[in-house]
This record gives sequence, C-alpha cells and structure tokens, in this order.
Amino acid sequence: MTKTHETWILVADDDRAHRDMLRANLEHAGYSVMEVTNGSEAVKCVKTQHPDLVLTDMRMPEMDGLTAVREIRKIDERVPILIMTAYGTIENAVQTVKAGAYDYILKPLDMSVLLNTIKTGLEKRSEPETQSKLASDDYIAESPAMKDIFALAEKVARSEASVLLTGESGTGKEVLANFIQQKSARSGKPFVKVNCAALHDQLLESELFGHEKGAFTGAVAQRKGRFELADTGTIFLDEIGDMALETQAKILRALQQGTFERLGGTQTIKTDCRVIAATNKDLEAAVAAGRFREDLYYRLSVVPMRIPPLRERREDIPALANYFMEKHSEKNRKHMKRIAQEAMDRLVAYDWPGNVRELSNCIERAVILSLGDDITLESLPNNIKKTSSAPEGDLNIMEQAERSAILTALRSCGGNKSLAAEKLGINRKTLATKMQRYNISEE
Ligand SMILES: Nc1ncnc2c1ncn2[C@@H]1O[C@H](COP(=O)(O)OP(=O)(O)OP(=O)(O)O)[C@@H](O)[C@H]1O
Ligand SMILES: [Mg+2]
Repeated sequence: MTKTHETWILVADDDRAHRDMLRANLEHAGYSVMEVTNGSEAVKCVKTQHPDLVLTDMRMPEMDGLTAVREIRKIDERVPILIMTAYGTIENAVQTVKAGAYDYILKPLDMSVLLNTIKTGLEKRSEPETQSKLASDDYIAESPAMKDIFALAEKVARSEASVLLTGESGTGKEVLANFIQQKSARSGKPFVKVNCAALHDQLLESELFGHEKGAFTGAVAQRKGRFELADTGTIFLDEIGDMALETQAKILRALQQGTFERLGGTQTIKTDCRVIAATNKDLEAAVAAGRFREDLYYRLSVVPMRIPPLRERREDIPALANYFMEKHSEKNRKHMKRIAQEAMDRLVAYDWPGNVRELSNCIERAVILSLGDDITLESLPNNIKKTSSAPEGDLNIMEQAERSAILTALRSCGGNKSLAAEKLGINRKTLATKMQRYNISEE
C-alpha cells in the first residue's frame, strides 16, 4: 500500500461482507480503502500507514473498538476515528467518544449519513486547534441562593478568615474554594489542595507536614509537606470529615501557631497560610460524637458556607445545563445548539442526588449521544427521562422555579418589592405582575 495524495480510509471490521460493502461504497465516493479485521491490526496500520481516517467496528475479536481507540490515540493524536456500533452497544460508543473518537454511527449503516460523517471528520482534522472559549474557572449562579453565596464569598475572600464549605457531594464546593482563592489578596501565591479522605493517618500526615529521610518505611528521601508548600498562600483541605484525632491536633497547631515539624524531624517549621476547608459530612454531628475536635471545628469555620443541593435551587438548572452543553460540545467537537423544551423540563424536575456533577455527566452523555443540533429527551438517561414533569397545581416546572425564586427573594428582602425585584433582575412592575399571576400575597 503506497499512499498518494488520495484520502485513505482504514476500515477495521471482522465481518468480511460488511468490509466489502464498505469498500465498494467508499471507493465509489472517491476514497481509497485499506482493510484490517481487528483492533490490534488497526493500531499497527495507523502506526505504519498513517491513514487519513479510521472507521472501526465496535465489537471485534482480539481488540475491541474502545481499546483500539485508546491505543490509536497514544500513537496519533489527530487521526479522526469513527465508530460503527449497534444500538445495543450505544453506551460503549459513548465511551469511545470520551476516549477520543470524534463520533459514532449506528448500524445498520445509512450510507449517506456515513459519508457525511466521514466528511465532517476529515474537515475537523484540517481545522486548527481552537482555543477554548470557556475558561475552566467559569461558574454559574442564577438562583438567589447561589448569587448570595458568591456575593458573600467575594467579600470573605478579601479577609484572611478561614472558610468552611459544606454541602452534598457535587454541589460545587471546590468551585467555590477556587473562586475564593482567586478573589483573595493571596491569589498570585501558592494554592495547595489536599484531599484528606484519600490518604490515611501516617500518609496523610506525611502529605500535610512532610517527612525526613527514614521517618518511616518507604521514606527514602526528605519531602516537603503541603503546609510548607502553601506558605504565604492558601491551603484547601478537602474532605476533612474523618481524620484521626491526632492528625487533627497537628492541623490545629499549624493553623493556630503557624508551626509544625516534619515527620521524623525535630526542626520547627513556620508556615503562614490561609485555610479553606470542605466537607460533605455533618461536622457538627462529628463534633458531638467526639470524632472531630471542637476547637479545630471553630478554627476552620470562622465563616461557614453551606451550598444547597441542586434540587433546592432549581433555577440554576437551565443555566447550568446550557453551560455544560457548550462546554462538552466544545470538548467533544460537537455543535449542539439547544436543549429541547421537553428535555429541559425533565432536567429541571429531576432531583439530582449527585448534584451539579451528575448534571454535568448527564449533559456530556447527551451531547455525545445526540446526532442533530438539539439535545432531545431520547438522549437523557432513563431515570431522568421518566421523571414526572407534571407539577402539582397548574404550574409547569419552570413556573414553579420562578415562583419559588420570587418567594425567596421577597423573604430575604423582608418583603420589600423594589429590593426583591432588583435582586431578581426584573423591574418592579414585572414583579408585581408575576406575584399576581403566582398568587403571592403582599405581605
Ligand atoms: N456553580 C457552578 N457552575 C459551574 N460548574 C459547577 C458549579 N458547581 C459545580 N460545578 C461543576 O460540577 C462538578 C462538581 O463540582 P465540585 O467538584 O466543586 O463539587 P464538590 O462539592 O467539591 O463535590 P465533592 O463533595 O464530590 O467533592 C465540577 O465539574 C464543577 O466544575
Ligand atoms: Mg470536592
């Protein structure tokens, strides 16, 4: 096989008849075709022949499509890979797109769809890499609750106070910690994150405070700890829920006196760092049960901030969903434009036990699964699809969200309508109309 200026497509499929059919159609459309019968041959072929595009079956002997995509990506970052999959293995197809395929196509193949998708893949390859439009530190706050939280966070950021972030898993504690650090006077200084739940006792202490050579088996060289690295900056103690009491005592001293020793060391080291801590555990209960030191709790929670679960601030869902649609479209080189209304209704109605993280995953999956411009109801997972979006009373979900936003705003402004309207970003007259419509009384 020698390559010329022609466009070469590598077809990987174990089914002979299917390969013949593809070859005939692709050659008819003006492409040159090379064939292999399994994934490992496909990988070898990419390495030696550099095809312009890879069209591979999902299920093959020796090496399946997913593994093949991963292996191909290791040797060639750019070659477009298109997966052929049967409906029953669609979830696997999603995995292959996450692994680096640019799209998948359903079997039985529709030739015009296949040729179009191949064309898109080849075009994408010649596009220059575009810079991401979305900064990684973007955040969404539409609900009054989240607006209040970010407003408070901005004020607190300027102080040196320790902040304790609580909230269920996936609510955005780390997002908020990043925000506070960025808005603080220490923003240009080190920002050191420690996941306290990932390590236990000795390893955690060594991570936090460092160790001298020979401090314990495996301590083959001296190592600086996170408190030392965070000096003059900020330390983020994530998932502080369950730590040994002894470790807690050392942390307290490091925060209160700004001093500690490395494990196995005698020299006292000084550190000046601001602390932000986070947990999804009920720390007050842990204090009551004697599992968390009360003094450390008070030292950490000078400013406590609780991020409500997503189901308590449904007004954020549409904005978050659209934000994730854009973000994941860009990442997966798709061009999704909107979320169909019936899909959005379900998203707003669903309870999101995994909070914003679950919403993000759900939208990523939908972006990958959707074939047109829209995220449709069909592309949502079954449990969400089945969520009843028939609300109590006559209001639809969006209206319910709006009603609850108005109530919250009025409550937080002591019933002052001008203030509440300002907070909601609508004028006073609109607020009055909406209050009437939603049957909200003046007091
Ligand atoms: N307000 C927001 N705007 C945009 N993205 C958000 C927002 N809140 C959360 N996310 C996204 O949701 C995901 C989960 O957020 P994050 O990691 O901050 O949650 P967490 O509370 O720290 O969760 P865990 O307790 O599981 O560690 C991340 O991908 C994050 O970028
Ligand atoms: Mg987190």
